[in-house]
Amino acid sequence: YVVGVDLGTSAVKTLLVSQDGTVKAEATREYPLYHEKSGWSEQEPEDWVTGTLESLKGLVSGSGVSAEDIEGISFSGQMHGLVLLDADNRPVRRAILWNDTRTTEQCREIERTLGDKLLSVTRNPALEGFTLPKILWVRENEPEAFAKASRFVLPKDYVRYRLTGEIHMDLSDAAGTLMLDVANKTWSAEVLRAFELPEAFCPPLVEAGGFVGTVSAEASASSGLAASTKVFAGGADNACGAIGAGILKPGLTLCSIGTSGVVLTYEPDASADYAGKVHFFNHGKENAFYAMGVTLAAGYSLSWFRNTFAKGESFDSFLEGVGDIAPGADGLLFTPYLVGERTPHADSVIRASFIGMDGAHTRAHFARAVMEGITFSLNESVDLFRQAGKTVDTIVSIGGGAKNPVWLQMQADIFNAEVVALENEQGPGLGAAMLAAAGCGWFPSLDACAEAFVKRSTSYRPDPARAARYAELFQVYKQVYGATKGLNE
Ligand code: XUL
Repeated sequence: YVVGVDLGTSAVKTLLVSQDGTVKAEATREYPLYHEKSGWSEQEPEDWVTGTLESLKGLVSGSGVSAEDIEGISFSGQMHGLVLLDADNRPVRRAILWNDTRTTEQCREIERTLGDKLLSVTRNPALEGFTLPKILWVRENEPEAFAKASRFVLPKDYVRYRLTGEIHMDLSDAAGTLMLDVANKTWSAEVLRAFELPEAFCPPLVEAGGFVGTVSAEASASSGLAASTKVFAGGADNACGAIGAGILKPGLTLCSIGTSGVVLTYEPDASADYAGKVHFFNHGKENAFYAMGVTLAAGYSLSWFRNTFAKGESFDSFLEGVGDIAPGADGLLFTPYLVGERTPHADSVIRASFIGMDGAHTRAHFARAVMEGITFSLNESVDLFRQAGKTVDTIVSIGGGAKNPVWLQMQADIFNAEVVALENEQGPGLGAAMLAAAGCGWFPSLDACAEAFVKRSTSYRPDPARAARYAELFQVYKQVYGATKGLNE
């Protein structure tokens, strides 16, 4: 067996996976998010560690599998979160997460300082969610905490450190820091110099599938894993989501709707040029890359709506009736900018809207409009890929958005592409388990592992009439951003 750990934003989920790719057991532990001020989003690294250890313990003891039969473990992690460590590797403050938007000023500073190098070296725009602006923010606003910091890691790296005693960062996660030379797979001396950060501030880089050690005696006692269990670095959640969905060759695109939503497309090398309009990161597969657009409030928009207007109701009952409403929700349109937007606007100030309300609209109309608005936002990323000359005709859909057949058909109609769902889809946790499975030598490559582990189920094809209707509505959707931009400034 191998274990995949998916360290998410609301919870950690661990999967126990057998050699044929079957998920034998799973366990989840939730942890809190702290929003002390508007735009702030933090977590306590110790909560991740406790949650992961408890979840592993529950996983192993509940599965009936002997710890000695678990050969390897790897990780998928929420991206970009800043964990600053002191000389004894203790966090100096709470982690500042990917969805924290306090760093607009630092982003402008990065743009001014790096100029063209920002895109040519880091391959990404400076966005509030990324790690370097957070480092600058702490240095400027909390000098005492910063003075204690001798290096930084990302969320899953900290948890892995607590399991092994070793500190590393993998390339797919390092790509989201704005400090990596993405094409050359090294920390950028130029970026570090520009911000007066010593090279020792950055952890040693490894491949996502890289072997980094074994579970320590102490962690063995608290996790229930054997001390001989091999530990592989793991990757960014989006890279692991791509691995777990088999997005490992050109022509394949992934749509993942979780708290945030992403559309990402496989890139065999670093040659594509999206002019910074989308993210461009190292894949979890060696020497590969992916381009990605992000909708910040995807699943979050729907859970916000449910929690605000139908608290306590299950998603199934809440979404009942949504499929009976025609595309376009009878004129009701939603833009999902509840916490600002990444792609294509890179705007942390814009906020969401409902427009076109009618006295005859029901709650189901609103729920449908929310699902459509999230999907329109993701379609802006699909559109950017297509404008850059990519063919996007097959999209594998995972996450909460893939649990509902109405939403899957809606994705096919709005993306105007074939949308494929997976059997027993397990998201990034399966990708993490695949990194461990390939690392343990079960397969000659990740691709071979994907052939055995990733099983497609239903495919949804666009209906020409609905796709045409959505294409018209998408034009209206795109205008709402500019028209509402002044509201929250
Ligand atoms: C990607 C991003 C999110 C997080 C969620 O750039 O910020 O998708 O990875 O964990």
